[in-house]
Amino acid sequence: MPKVHFLSPLQDLTVEAPEGTSLLEAAELGHAQVGHSCGGVCACSTCHLFVRKGLDSLSEQDDLEMDRLDLAFDVRAISRLGCQARLGAEDVEVWITEESLKAWMDENPDARKALEAEGKWPPARFT
Ligand code: FES
Repeated sequence: MPKVHFLSPLQDLTVEAPEGTSLLEAAELGHAQVGHSCGGVCACSTCHLFVRKGLDSLSEQDDLEMDRLDLAFDVRAISRLGCQARLGAEDVEVWITEESLKAWMDENPDARKALEAEGKWPPARFT
């Protein structure tokens, strides 16, 4: 079963998930802080991730995802939407973008307050 390694200024965790699982579904399995304001229907871009390893093993990007990514911040050649990119057989490593992490904090205000109280949010750097 492939593994997804999620990284951000706040997290460093690995999740095992079956082939065909979306990166967003894997994030939810492992409690990775990936935003998903539209619920995973390719209607926002808050699940924006940078895929640092294993990019070629993921499902192909379709026109809908490309159009949605056009509206995202800081889009790179390694950008994918977590709700659209599905795992192949290989392990992948993803960086949770600033856009996605901020969205997750907005979606989880209690967790954000706790992190603020610990001095962990916002981080000094997002990259
Ligand atoms: S969760 Fe909205 S586009 Fe992925």
